[in-house]
Amino acid sequence: MELLEKQHMNTSWDFRTANTKTYTHCYHNYPAMMIPQIAERLIVKYGKNAKTLFDPYCGTGTSLVEAILKSINAIGTDLNPLARLIAKTKTAKIELQILDLYLKEFNDFSFSLNFGINEPNIVIPNFKNIDFWFSKKTQNKLAIIKQFIDNISDKNVKDLFYVAFSETVRESSFTRNSEFKLYRIPEKQREKFNPDAFSMIISKLARNRRGLIDYLDKTKYINAKAQIFGFNTVETIENIPEKSIEIIVTSPPYGDSRTTVAYGQFSRLSNQWLGIENANQIDNKLMGGKISNIHKFGINIVDEIIEKIAIKDNKRAREVYSFYKDYYKSINNVSATLKSGGYACYVVGNRKVKGMTLPTDKITRAFFEANDFEYKNTFIRNIPNKRMPSKNSPTNEIGKTETTMNNEYIVVMRKY
Ligand SMILES: C[S@@+](CC[C@H](N)C(=O)[O-])C[C@H]1O[C@@H](n2cnc3c(N)ncnc32)[C@H](O)[C@@H]1O
Repeated sequence: MELLEKQHMNTSWDFRTANTKTYTHCYHNYPAMMIPQIAERLIVKYGKNAKTLFDPYCGTGTSLVEAILKSINAIGTDLNPLARLIAKTKTAKIELQILDLYLKEFNDFSFSLNFGINEPNIVIPNFKNIDFWFSKKTQNKLAIIKQFIDNISDKNVKDLFYVAFSETVRESSFTRNSEFKLYRIPEKQREKFNPDAFSMIISKLARNRRGLIDYLDKTKYINAKAQIFGFNTVETIENIPEKSIEIIVTSPPYGDSRTTVAYGQFSRLSNQWLGIENANQIDNKLMGGKISNIHKFGINIVDEIIEKIAIKDNKRAREVYSFYKDYYKSINNVSATLKSGGYACYVVGNRKVKGMTLPTDKITRAFFEANDFEYKNTFIRNIPNKRMPSKNSPTNEIGKTETTMNNEYIVVMRKY
């Protein structure tokens, strides 16, 4: 009874017509991004007098930016180096004057290339399958741009260029851009595809500069700082002292990367161009990446659903179990960082496996309750401006999709 009363379908959380690309939120696309307006509302509602917000799966840093805009220090962690680069850049106060000098230099440089005035010696990166994903012409252009960026001495400006470069890499590759996973466009399309990486990056830089100007204006009198780490929330949360955080606002992955959103695969080409080692291994390291044998949690809601799946398909049950096992461990770690009276706000999705809906909202509640938290609320929202496909690939077979979810659940818990 109590559970029902506290669960609200509340369309005001849909933010159907909201502009989700304000400030630095416009910098870079990413799968399953949080809507900034959700983070903002949660911070206003549950973060009164908060000094520090923590996002344990910060992705591109949506909630971190919103914390800074409210004068709250922000700490984020993510295992994906590309996500960290974007989050760091989105929360940085980049000096506009220095940026403008480099933008002018870059424009002049690309102009001079058109006239053959400047013929740089370029080094094409040596990663597997580069010829599969990029034409030789595009490889040359990207290598020239990358070399220019590598030589920028201002760290923040350099990162802003890398972020625009990353989107350019993806868009100038043979990837189908409508997909988060890497699928190559057919040969006929590849033959005609002749992207201009220079004009692409120039227009992205111009867009991001406009976002930066708004961000700098809004944060003129704000001194709050962001720190972004790369630790695995399942293993340990280093650097964050116990009971030091007042509010957590986060959107964890919906499931393992193989069968839900492949963050590592989405980022792979960018990470490879940026020189990140083992860029093709990231998805295995994310939650649910390692399959293990099923053990009981001793928590009915999760044990029951895994049992039901196991009757139909034991392999899928092990995959689901492995994800929740990691999720449970990470909630234990995250819980310890929160002060007594602090709030944990988790935006989760209830995906379907083998035709059964996984009640991740209720499982999130149960995992926090096992860590001495009180359940406060669940706001149920429609996903109108979807940042992930409602059709997913539950079997991971190319082309085989299933409608997965149309709602998100914002679960609010309070530490005793
Ligand atoms: C739903 S996305 C977060 C999106 C973010 N809210 C945004 O607006 O960009 C989930 C993130 O969790 C990260 N992740 C998955 N497993 C992790 C782990 N064990 N430790 C740290 N980060 C992890 C993924 O790399 C991904 O960026």
